[in-house]
Amino acid sequence: MSTTAVRRTADLDARTLSAIRGLLDEAFDGDFTDADWAHALDGTHALVHHEGRLVGHGSVVRRQLWHGGRTLRAGYVEAVAVVPDRRRQGIATALMDALETAIRADHDLGALSASDDGAGLYAARGWLLWVGPTSVRTAEGDRRTPEDDGSVFVLPGTVALDLRGALTCDWREGDFW
Ligand SMILES: CC(C)(COP(=O)(O)OP(=O)(O)OC[C@H]1O[C@@H](n2cnc3c(N)ncnc32)[C@H](O)[C@@H]1OP(=O)(O)O)[C@@H](O)C(=O)NCCC(=O)NCCS
Repeated sequence: MSTTAVRRTADLDARTLSAIRGLLDEAFDGDFTDADWAHALDGTHALVHHEGRLVGHGSVVRRQLWHGGRTLRAGYVEAVAVVPDRRRQGIATALMDALETAIRADHDLGALSASDDGAGLYAARGWLLWVGPTSVRTAEGDRRTPEDDGSVFVLPGTVALDLRGALTCDWREGDFW
């Protein structure tokens, strides 16, 4: 039987953190960096276990986004992954159910940058593809991130969004989106 748990990063012990990192390295086929790992921490994690084995993970972290002249409190989804031998069995669906509950509780919207694998999952759940230009806010002003255009999805909350407008994220090491 599979179970889904929701935990804050601060409540995860070293063994669980190590199991999560191992799952992510496997699921992303060695393409998961230390910066990606840092992005997945300091938030809320959803963990799916099956017969004692960690088979799925995703997290939501707080970020600032800017859109339409407003500062938005985003629940930003990171590090969604399911072990290769348990895919297409609804595990990511269970993860996203838990993460979207956390987003809706305390954020203006949800946001994420989808991999090719993930895009179908989010679209099927009602996440909307951002159509307008994306940027990152730097000390020198906003800088376009054209390589991320067409991969950012949002989960609207109470704030009106114009998907064709500009969307800017806060700066961080590694991938901005
Ligand atoms: C993306 C990923 C997390 C999906 O996990 P999963 O447990 O297989 O997803 P689910 O079984 O819950 O799928 C739910 C639904 O999402 C959609 N979906 C999931 N994966 C999809 C895909 N690759 N293409 C299109 N739609 C997909 C389908 O509607 C699916 O329902 P179905 O199986 O009845 O068709 C998994 O493939 C994975 O870990 N990939 C590698 C890491 C990665 O890219 N993560 C996403 C980062 S943004």
